Amino acid sequence: MPFDRSIKIAPSILAADFAAFGAECEAAEAQGADWIHVDVMDGHFVPNLTFGPAMCKALRPHIKGVMDVHLMIAPVDPYIDAFAEAGADVLTAHVEAGPHIHRTLQAIRAAGVRPGVALNPGTPAEAVRDVLGLVELVCVMTVNPGFGGQKFIDMGDKIRALREMIGDREIHIEIDGGVDPKTAPLVAGAGADVLVAGSAVFKGGSVANPEPYGENIRAIRAAVAG
Ligand code: DX5
Ligand code: ZN
Repeated sequence: MPFDRSIKIAPSILAADFAAFGAECEAAEAQGADWIHVDVMDGHFVPNLTFGPAMCKALRPHIKGVMDVHLMIAPVDPYIDAFAEAGADVLTAHVEAGPHIHRTLQAIRAAGVRPGVALNPGTPAEAVRDVLGLVELVCVMTVNPGFGGQKFIDMGDKIRALREMIGDREIHIEIDGGVDPKTAPLVAGAGADVLVAGSAVFKGGSVANPEPYGENIRAIRAAVAG
């Protein structure tokens, strides 16, 4: 996974068919997805439940590229090894998930996975300044985490502040929530390079009819290219 700041589209399987996740990942990649974004929720850190490391392990053979695992769980540390063994390429923990984000990010790296840190909409950019030396990705939530299909919350100032804070360091800025052809140019213009999109990618298609996924991905790319 060599570093670059080109725009990467990361479909979130939260908006895919839960009974066909493996085939959905393959379809999304075949239709042009760069990364696959996997949302893990615990019904405690966020008010919704999805799945855990066993699902990630089952999905791994169906994802050729980057498996980007977004942990919306607290605590994080007891589960890091299981997600590493499941084959996560990126493991992102929330800065709000506990008092020891620094320790958590060290543990993710020690497990051989690329560490990411996520910020809820109510958390300022400053909250991650002192862990930038430990991460390869900062995820800016543009919805309150827990559900797909929510309305985009403008975090342009935060993205620009992070972009400046990051400078030349090889750290991706990922945006998660409400990304579509209308909002994508705003976040890309502010400095983001990884765009997570659930509903905007999977709408209108299915495993049996995956072409709309490709059209949706191309529409986001075209909007960003302006
Ligand atoms: C929200 C999740 C997102 C979500 C995005 O808690 O972290 O990844 O699936 O979905 P959309 O793109 O529909 O807002
Ligand atoms: Zn997510």
